[in-house]
Amino acid sequence: MDYSEYLELKKIIDAQHPESFKEGNEPAHDEMLFIIIHQAYELWFKQILFEVNSVITIMSKTAIDDNSAELQTVVHRLQRVVTILKVLVQQIDILETMTPLDFLDFRDMLRPASGFQSYQFKIIEAKLGLKFEQRHGQNYYTSQLHQKDIDIIKDAEQGNTILALVNKWLERMPFFRDDNLWKNYTPSSSVETNHPINNIHPFWKDYENIYAEGLADAEKLNIDNFRKLFFTSEENIERSLSAEACRSTLFIMLYRGYPMLELPFQLLDTLLEIDNQLGSWRYRHINMVRRMIGTRIGTGGSTGAGYLQGSMDKHYIFKEISQLNSFLMDRRKLPKLPSEITEKLGY
Ligand code: HEM
Repeated sequence: MDYSEYLELKKIIDAQHPESFKEGNEPAHDEMLFIIIHQAYELWFKQILFEVNSVITIMSKTAIDDNSAELQTVVHRLQRVVTILKVLVQQIDILETMTPLDFLDFRDMLRPASGFQSYQFKIIEAKLGLKFEQRHGQNYYTSQLHQKDIDIIKDAEQGNTILALVNKWLERMPFFRDDNLWKNYTPSSSVETNHPINNIHPFWKDYENIYAEGLADAEKLNIDNFRKLFFTSEENIERSLSAEACRSTLFIMLYRGYPMLELPFQLLDTLLEIDNQLGSWRYRHINMVRRMIGTRIGTGGSTGAGYLQGSMDKHYIFKEISQLNSFLMDRRKLPKLPSEITEKLGY
């Protein structure tokens, strides 16, 4: 196999045709950089989608075992996505070597083309779990795309997303499903009969009490949120993580020191890191855009920096997971788990 043939280099290396280099135009030196950097981004987007799709396939199986190689593969591939995203954030440094005037030399020639039309970027967001309802610019975010790409984005929004699959996986967490595992749990508070939540598990009742004790006066309303998030399963509440999944998430975060919860914790942490890196990219991109075009509208037909600010604020995909950190407590105060549970959590 020949190196160039294997990599189909001819296609890739011959795929840069700056508009300003065409006959009759004044060549703008930096347009080559502009094209290559976007192509490099799109190649990495392709790799991210490849990883994300493979994770969706694995997690779509009904019973992924928490201690299996499959879960390791999921975590490993999502961590690779994080590493790629870090490179994508750094790549902005290269583009920033282009000055606003250098950009103006060719900007008008590429209108209306814009990164806004990157369908791969929107598919990544959707496959990770960004719902249509959470989108900024709902009435125009696909307005510049070809119908076949819009269809893929719509399918992704309605199909199995990483967030939806993680929710199902969290709901399957076994530790609260078997009452026998809790028969030797000693509640530190008696379960009140008038507690607003019926059949609240003694562990969670204790947890709520200890958590409430640690709240400052101004934070007392957190208890209402705690009950709403962790124990309300009304279907009309707009949420991606069910109450059961929220309880599992908190349990994993709190007891992640036990070997069985190490990998589940890494999975949740990696999702937060994906959001973090995407957020960093958006922040660097919007700053670059402000520097490059100020408040002028984007070539893609949005409000430019205004749209980008909106998507930066609203498109945190795993925010329901990160919000649960408000309900963590000091490890020393945690309810003591019964030996039946700690045995299950050990090797
Ligand atoms: C001179 C450099 C750049 C400028 C001035 C710029 C400008 C903009 C603007 C104004 C928007 C808002 C949409 C619109 O066009 O109306 C946008 C969106 C976007 N751009 Fe850029 N961009 C630049 C470089 C890049 C690069 C290198 C990428 C890499 C792929 C990129 C990817 C994107 C993406 C994915 C969006 C949509 C973001 C979202 O929906 O939140 N841009 N860009």
